[in-house]
Amino acid sequence: MTRYARVVTAAPTDRPGLDLDGLLADPAVKIIVCCGSGGVGKTTTAAALGLRAAEQHGRRTVVLTIDPARRLAQSMGLTELDNTPRQVKGIDTDAGGGGELHAMMLDMKRTFDEVVQAHTTPQRAAEIFANPFYQAMSSTFSGTQEYMAMEKLGQLRATEEWDLIVVDTPPSRSALDFLDAPARLSRFLDGRMLRLLLAPARGGRSMFTLVTASFGLFSKAVQKILGAQLLTDLSGFVAALDSMFGGFRQRADETYRILQDPQTAFLLVATPERDAVREAAYFADRLVAERMPLAGLVLNRVHRSSLPSLSAEAGEAAAARLDAAGDQQVTADALRIHAGLLRQIEREVEVAATFTDAFPAVPTVAVTAQPADVHDVDGLRTIGTALTTAG
Ligand SMILES: Nc1ncnc2c1ncn2[C@@H]1O[C@H](COP(=O)(O)OP(=O)(O)OP(=O)(O)O)[C@@H](O)[C@H]1O
Ligand SMILES: [Mg+2]
Repeated sequence: MTRYARVVTAAPTDRPGLDLDGLLADPAVKIIVCCGSGGVGKTTTAAALGLRAAEQHGRRTVVLTIDPARRLAQSMGLTELDNTPRQVKGIDTDAGGGGELHAMMLDMKRTFDEVVQAHTTPQRAAEIFANPFYQAMSSTFSGTQEYMAMEKLGQLRATEEWDLIVVDTPPSRSALDFLDAPARLSRFLDGRMLRLLLAPARGGRSMFTLVTASFGLFSKAVQKILGAQLLTDLSGFVAALDSMFGGFRQRADETYRILQDPQTAFLLVATPERDAVREAAYFADRLVAERMPLAGLVLNRVHRSSLPSLSAEAGEAAAARLDAAGDQQVTADALRIHAGLLRQIEREVEVAATFTDAFPAVPTVAVTAQPADVHDVDGLRTIGTALTTAG
């Protein structure tokens, strides 16, 4: 029995808190994937959990980050994009004993190159690398980053070097892109449409030849418009891919299966804002549909008040009385700020409830908004503590 819940339904009163220390300490949990929409704190959460797993739970941990903010990357010693994990120095593993933190930034292009190398002969690989179409696609095709994040996860896992792999996901608008991209890219690489264009049709000529032939006199113009070079590149690319496509898809399928395994725990990250919470709910639905293990929701950057007993109404009324007396302007302002904060907290609670009402059995934890950005190891430690302390 794992300590974290798969999505099941239960009465709201049973709503559990998310025990992230339990998750980090569980030797059966080998992969944690942090998902969520753009800017909610996925990278911060992934790095903070990795640090805590190493410092407090003695685990040999690697964090796969994607596009971390520069200052955070620097503070973790990630100064170059070399696609291999580097040990993070200056962490304090006394409490956990023997833990290690390694971190890396995903290099999408390089990961793609590695995949190509793994699936074809050196000569074929060289042809593919030289192909301008490959060069464009491996660095810009939408979905490549998501696919390569999964690929890198598969590679890290295959080394069996790590007790725990914490995976950050790309800054997509939609959290679901992470799960959708491999299939999308796979379909593209499968190249049915491209192959159709290039395949021999009646009379042994390719559709492409037929198409261009049917333009007859205009073929020069057509070539200009379509870009003859592009089509040559494309056909070379598709032909080269043919030799390795099976392996490509097989790997994506394998990684997908790992994501369904109980050794994996998905963490949804959302800020208490309508769009972010809605996105988290879509993702939770999807994880259920895909039978992927959802560990819980991290509600990041929530606000708290140190004086919750003074209601917003009471604060505003008191401020109005002070105004009327023409007295103690600073106190009146402070009371109004307090009232504003309480109203914001009310809104946040309301928004968060749209998720927790829909998924009453998914454990959640709230992390307070820090006064400043999180850009160093100390900051990550603070977030790690907040993630594991019921607030
Ligand atoms: N609890 C917090 N309190 C204060 N600042 C935070 C908190 N969590 C994250 N941040 C800050 O918010 C910004 C966005 O966080 P982060 O980069 O982790 O989000 P992300 O989900 O990875 O974004 P992207 O989708 O762009 O990759 C960063 O500057 C980070 O330092
Ligand atoms: Mg990020």
